Amino acid sequence: MSFIGGHDIRKLADTYGTPLLVYDEDAMRKRLNEFVSSFKSEKLETGVLYASKAFSCKAMVSLIDEYGLYLDVVSAGELFTAYKTGYDCSKIFFHGNNKTLQELKMAMQMHVGTIVVDNLMEAEELAELAKEADYPVHTLLRVNPGIEAHTHKYIVTAHVDSKFGISFLNEEELVETIKVLQNGENIVFDGLHAHIGSQIFDIQAFLEEIKKLFAYSQSLKEKYGIDFHTINLGGGFGVKYTEEDKPVPIEKVCQSMIQTCEEEQEKTCPMIQRVLIEPGRSIVAEAGYSVYTIGYIKKTPNKLYAFVDGGMNDNIRPALYQAKYDAFIEGKEEEEKNTSYTIAGKCCESGDILIESIELPKAEKGDLLVMKTTGAYGYSMASHYNKIPLPAVVFASEKETREVIERETFEHMISLEK
Ligand code: LLP
Repeated sequence: MSFIGGHDIRKLADTYGTPLLVYDEDAMRKRLNEFVSSFKSEKLETGVLYASKAFSCKAMVSLIDEYGLYLDVVSAGELFTAYKTGYDCSKIFFHGNNKTLQELKMAMQMHVGTIVVDNLMEAEELAELAKEADYPVHTLLRVNPGIEAHTHKYIVTAHVDSKFGISFLNEEELVETIKVLQNGENIVFDGLHAHIGSQIFDIQAFLEEIKKLFAYSQSLKEKYGIDFHTINLGGGFGVKYTEEDKPVPIEKVCQSMIQTCEEEQEKTCPMIQRVLIEPGRSIVAEAGYSVYTIGYIKKTPNKLYAFVDGGMNDNIRPALYQAKYDAFIEGKEEEEKNTSYTIAGKCCESGDILIESIELPKAEKGDLLVMKTTGAYGYSMASHYNKIPLPAVVFASEKETREVIERETFEHMISLEK
């Protein structure tokens, strides 16, 4: 028998069906605790935001709320999810490089606390809209400090020509945007936001980001008299997908970042009073397991395929980023791994490979293949390719198991079709 969060995986599969996404709820709670207790400072106000793009649903919003986290949303859909959960919208940070007018209006109707403005046009549009606002709309400006952290090229967000934020190299526009916000009626300009990439293992990249942001903030003050108090450092903390990945423990990352922030605040830019981070992946990835049923097994001249009842529709990451995963067969963890398999999904596409090559005990039809570390950007990037319904999602804890998202039905899938 194999377990997730203390629950027999076979029983979970029998109860909820496969493919199934199971979260070890206690592991998420532990991680949330680690962030909250270690991203703390005696000298600075601190805050942790959950980046809901990694995995968003009502149960997830409630969970992060229990730990007092703020919330990063990047679309009206993520915002709506938080709103319907009853989350306090004043704790929401609304990101995005191309928010629509409807999204901005919706945010203001819901009294979203902070809009993270991406560009000059958005600042101008927001300044117009905020004239009618019945509360102070806080803002941050997304900037691009030009740091390239070591990660996949699609996930890098801060190279100089990134679509996100305004580059330090475009200082005139950057300053003009801040002025629009500072002069805007009912708008409060709080500071700068940056996000340098995702799945980053090198702590130095974050420390360099901190130094650059503090130094740049000070230069904005000295050169243009711009005052503000907040720096949001974004997310990006790496997690362990396979044995090759060696993430630095979260406490250590947070402590190093806090220490550097405190030093920079003291020696470089005393006006900064608050620092924020917004992890997504590192809160949910390692707690998530995708449980699939193995169907047919097929030999080709050079490969041995084991086919599973999901695939790129519920986890696009291997196809899109060549992401690597580890897996085991339920109930066979103690058996010798003597067979090399390619794990493929059931989608009509050759690229629908979940694991290119993995050593496993001999697999049989009906076995459960459990892929590890699938809690981030799997369900949230899932598609309806081949009209395969989205899997069910379960939170398993010592206390209980609960289905937090039902398995989609065919009827759901075609419900909007005329
Ligand atoms: N804040 C901002 C502004 C972001 O753009 C992101 C991620 C985060 C926070 C959270 O980053 P995290 O802690 O999760 O690394 N789909 C890709 C990842 C895209 C990340 C986009 N932005 C993947 O599956 O690897």
